[in-house]
Order: sequence, then C-alpha cells, then structure tokens
Amino acid sequence: MRRVKARKLLDRAVTTLKASPSIDHWQKGRERIEAEDLLMHAIGVDEDPDPSEEIPGKARRRFEAMVERRATGEPIPFIKGYAEFRGLELIAEPGVFVPRDSSEFLAEQAIRRLRKRKGAVHVDLATGGGTIALAVANEAPKTTVYGADVSPDAVKLARRNAKRLGLTATFRAGDMFGALPARIAGTVDVITLHPPYVPRSELPDLPDEIREWEPAHTLTDQSEDGLGLVVRAAEESGRWLRRGGWLLIEVSPDRAKEVMKVMRRAGLREIASTKGGELKVTRVVVGRR
Ligand SMILES: C[S@@+](CC[C@H](N)C(=O)[O-])C[C@H]1O[C@@H](n2cnc3c(N)ncnc32)[C@H](O)[C@@H]1O
Repeated sequence: MRRVKARKLLDRAVTTLKASPSIDHWQKGRERIEAEDLLMHAIGVDEDPDPSEEIPGKARRRFEAMVERRATGEPIPFIKGYAEFRGLELIAEPGVFVPRDSSEFLAEQAIRRLRKRKGAVHVDLATGGGTIALAVANEAPKTTVYGADVSPDAVKLARRNAKRLGLTATFRAGDMFGALPARIAGTVDVITLHPPYVPRSELPDLPDEIREWEPAHTLTDQSEDGLGLVVRAAEESGRWLRRGGWLLIEVSPDRAKEVMKVMRRAGLREIASTKGGELKVTRVVVGRR
C-alpha cells in the first residue's frame, strides 16, 4: 500500500478546502486547522501528526474521503460523528444543532454561578443535543439540571448524550418554559438560552454550510428581529427564577444591546453584556431577578 507523507496530504487537502464554495472561509488558517483535525481523526490520534510521518494507505483513503465530504460543506462534527464541548464528546447528527465552541463561554458563565451553590437548579432552554446542560452536569455535578427543546429529536439526542457520558440531567420536549415541571417555578438559580436569533429575512444570507446543514428552526424563530424567544425568556423568567437567580443569553455581538433592552423592559437588574470565548467575541447578556 502506497504511503504518503502527512505534509503532502495536508497541503492537498487545504487546497481542496480553500477552493470549496460551500465552506465559509471566515477565519484565516481555518482550512489547515480543519484538515489537521480530519487527519488526526483518520489516523485515530489526538495530536497533530509530524509533517514527515508516512500515512498508511488505509488512513489516507479515509482522510481523503472525509476531505471530499467537508468540501461539500458538511460540518466536521457530522463527519466525525461528534463535537467536542468543554472536554465532552457530544454526538452530532443532522437534524440537531451542532454545538459551537463559542457557547463554551455561556456554559462557563453558568457553571461559575452554580458550582458552589447548595441544591442549585439549572434550566437550559433550547438545549439542542444537551450542550450547555451536560457541561453544567459535568462541571457543577451537585446541580439539578433540566434541559428543554421544542424538537423531540434534539431531546432524544440529549438523552443519548447524557447516557453515554454517564451524566444526570432531565430532558423534556416542549415550547420554552412549557416543557418544565411546574414545581420548580421560583426555584431556578440559572437559566441559560442560546436561541435561534437570526432575523427571518437574513436566513438566505447565511453561509451554505449553516443554511443547508442546520434545520431552520435552530437558526431563526421566524420573527422579523430574531428576538422572539429572547423576549419570551426575559418576560417569563421571573416566574421560574428564584430571587437573585440569573438569566444568561448567548447572542451575536451586534444584538447584545437590543437583548439588554429586552431584559431591562422585563424588569431584570444587574444587566450586563459580557464578552469571552477563545476569540473574545461571544456575547452573553446576563440579567438578574
Ligand atoms: C442555536 S440552537 C442551540 C442549541 C444548543 N443550546 C447549543 O448551543 O448547542 C437553538 C435551539 O432552539 C430550539 N428551539 C427553537 N424554538 C424553540 C422553542 N420555541 N422552544 C424551545 N426550543 C426551541 C431548536 O430546536 C434548537 O435546538
């Protein structure tokens, strides 16, 4: 079987990915990072291969097939079958929103408010495959965690993720707070929400790799300003949060001011727009009951 050096394989892959019209080339060097990620996956290692390493034929073919898939715009977590999120491997499948690195900051904001609190209760609205809920269950293990999503497929995946990781969280299907048991009203310490916040009219402008691979209901709530679920979360949070409890909402930087206004109108206090994540662009707007 013909062996090829890692460097050559990576260079070829980067050229293919750079030429793809289906990939959003928003970040310099993104294609190389992705090619390295796929090569590690093809070889079955978790460190970048030495550029002079000879890659056996079988691993090379696996790698080239994955690069072809990626060049069609398919997100890497679907190709690998999982996404990494704060050290957890979460199953990634078409039909459910792919966890984003940027949401690690939202999880961090929740965890540091919950970790030291006795009998803490966390609610993750629009939980998808359980992303934020499971990070909290893992890093603030004494917390009682609820995750809710309107999509039954998302809830099924969240339960599978929890089982596979040996983490405890209750996942329910339903529309926003409607999925929660009435008995936890007034007891919740932290509510997290990473909502579908793209304004309806901006949906066609999204990069192919998002628009064609993520279901529309995970991207937009079909409102004109994209803030339909944000308004509902802010207005209804008062019934669910304990006094002093927090509502944390992840939004794009350009929407943060509007979300702050929504929280102010809903009567929340200590409202702030916090910035973090690896690229320091993720915004989490926080408000307190
Ligand atoms: C941007 S995704 C975030 C998923 C997850 N929190 C994450 O960060 O990976 C938005 C999620 O909102 C859910 N969703 C949309 N409308 C909803 C509603 N009315 N009630 C609850 N969840 C909803 C979608 O199914 C989707 O899983």
